[in-house]
Amino acid sequence: MDKTPSRDDEENTGFWSILSHPAVFDSIQRLMGNRSLFETIVRDYMPKRSGIRILDIGCGTGSLVSVLPEGVDHVGFDISPRYIAYAAARRHPRSRFFVERVSEISPERLGRFDVVMAFGILHHIGDDEARSLIDTAAALLGKGGRLVTVDAARVDDQSALARFFMDRDRGRHIRTPAEYLGLFSDRPFSAEGKVLRGALRIPMAHCVVRADRL
Ligand SMILES: C[S@@+](CC[C@H](N)C(=O)[O-])C[C@H]1O[C@@H](n2cnc3c(N)ncnc32)[C@H](O)[C@@H]1O
Repeated sequence: MDKTPSRDDEENTGFWSILSHPAVFDSIQRLMGNRSLFETIVRDYMPKRSGIRILDIGCGTGSLVSVLPEGVDHVGFDISPRYIAYAAARRHPRSRFFVERVSEISPERLGRFDVVMAFGILHHIGDDEARSLIDTAAALLGKGGRLVTVDAARVDDQSALARFFMDRDRGRHIRTPAEYLGLFSDRPFSAEGKVLRGALRIPMAHCVVRADRL
C-alpha cells in the first residue's frame, strides 16, 4: 500500500522535507501557536459529556491529545509512519494510533465515534479524497455525531503576507470557505462554516466546518 502523498497534494521535497521529521514538525506547529487553536476548537465544538470517542483523521504527531479532557477515548490515524511512531511513543493512555491513508481506511474495524476531528488535513488532499474522508466520517458517526474540520482558507481581504504563506504551504489544496463547505453537498450532514482570523501566529485565516450527522 502506498503511504506517500502525491506531490500534487502535499509538497515534501526540498525545504519542506524537514517537516517529515516529527520533532521538527511539532516544534514549528508549537511556535505557530497550534495549542491555543486546538483549545479553541475543543472548547467551542466538542460535546461536553464524558466518555466520548474521538477519531482524529490526519492526526500528525498526536498533539491534539494533550488538550482533550480526561476520559475521552481517542483514535488517530495518519499517512506518515514517522509521525505515527512519534505519536505512539508518547504513550497517551487513552489513545491508539494507526498508519492509514484517508481513502484506504476501512471504517468497520474502528467502531462508532461521537466526534471526528479533521485538523489541518483537507488542505492536504484533493476533492475526491476529501469526499472519501467525509463519507468515512458519515459511516462512523451516529445521528447527531459531529465532524469538525479546520484548515487554512483563502479569503477576499487577505494580506499579501497571508498569500505568501498559503502559496508556500505544504498542503496544495487550500480552499475558500465556500469550497470547503461545498465538499459537503449531497452528504448526510448539516454543515456550517466559520472563518477564524489570527488563530495562529502567522497571518492566515482558517475555516472551521462544523458538520452534524443527519
Ligand atoms: C497540517 S498536518 C496536521 C496534523 C495534525 N492534525 C495537527 O493538527 O497537528 C496534516 C497531516 O495530514 C497528513 N496527511 C496528508 N495526506 C494524508 C492522507 N491522504 N491520509 C492520511 N493522512 C494524510 C499528514 O501526514 C499530516 O500529518
